[in-house]
Amino acid sequence: MAYLDSPIGVFDSGIGGLTVLKGLIEHLPSERWIYLGDTARLPYGNKSSETIRNYTLKNLKFLTQFKCKAFVIACNSASTQFNDPFFEEVPVFNVIDPGIKAALSLGLDKRIGILGTKATIQSQVYTKKLQAAHYTGEIFSQACPLFVPLVEEGLFEDPITDLVISKYLSEMKKVKIESLILGCTHYPLLKKSILDFFANNFAASDQDPYQINLINSAFYLSDMIKKKNLVKNHHSQKTQNLPIEIMTTDDYRNVKDLTLKILQGHATCFETVDIESHNSSS
Ligand code: DGL
Repeated sequence: MAYLDSPIGVFDSGIGGLTVLKGLIEHLPSERWIYLGDTARLPYGNKSSETIRNYTLKNLKFLTQFKCKAFVIACNSASTQFNDPFFEEVPVFNVIDPGIKAALSLGLDKRIGILGTKATIQSQVYTKKLQAAHYTGEIFSQACPLFVPLVEEGLFEDPITDLVISKYLSEMKKVKIESLILGCTHYPLLKKSILDFFANNFAASDQDPYQINLINSAFYLSDMIKKKNLVKNHHSQKTQNLPIEIMTTDDYRNVKDLTLKILQGHATCFETVDIESHNSSS
C-alpha cells in the first residue's frame, strides 16, 4: 500500500525530463520528487527497442529502493517500450497518454504534427493511440535526432538551432499544421525557437499571423496521477519544501548548471549513482 508521504520517482534518459518534472511540480506542489537522469547512456532515441526497454527496466528497478508511491517515465523513447500500468506493484505513468489527451482536447479533426526521436517516431505510438481514440484529422510525423544534442549543449536560441528547425519543420509549415506534439522531453526547451519559426515569414500576403498550438501534457499527466488517489491535497496539506533529489548516472557536475536553469529556483540536491552495481547487488 502506498503512503501519501512517499516520493514520486521520475526518470529520463537525461536532463530533458526535468521539463516534465517542472510541470508536475507546478501542478502537484506538495509532493516529494526523486529524479533519475540516465546521462551515462543518453541518448536512448537512437537505440533499438530492446536496448531502450532494458534500460527502462533497470531504471525502474533502481528507483524501487526509494519506496516510491508512483513512477513517471518522463522519456518518450522509454515510454514507447513500457506499457504496463505497474512495475513491481507501483503504478507507472508515461508521457505519451497525457500528450494524446491534450491533443484530443483540441479537437478530433485537426492537422497535427508529431516530433520525436527516431525510436519514438518509428514506434508510431502517437499515431496509433490517436487513431485508436478516433482521431480523424491528418497526422504528420518527423524524427528530429539533432534536437537532443542541441539542447544538451544549451543552444536553445541559436542560428544553428534555427537551421535545424527549418530542416525538420519546413514541411509541416508548408502544410499548415494547427497543433504540434513535442514528443521528446528535450524539445520544450526549444519552444521559443520553434514558435518563432512558424510565426516568421510565413507569407507576407497572409492577413492572419500563423500560430500553432504546442501541446502541453503536464496538466493531463498530473491529473492522471491525482485520479489514482496518489497525491496529497495541496490545499489542506503544507508543502514540504523538500529539495528535489537529482541523481545522474554520469557525473552530475556535467549537468548541474543546466538542471538549475531548467528547474529555476527549486531546491535541489545532486548525486552521481551507479545503477548497474545497485541492481546486481539487490
Ligand atoms: N528523453 C528522450 C525522449 O524523450 C530524448 C533524449 C534521448 O534520445 O535519450 O525521447
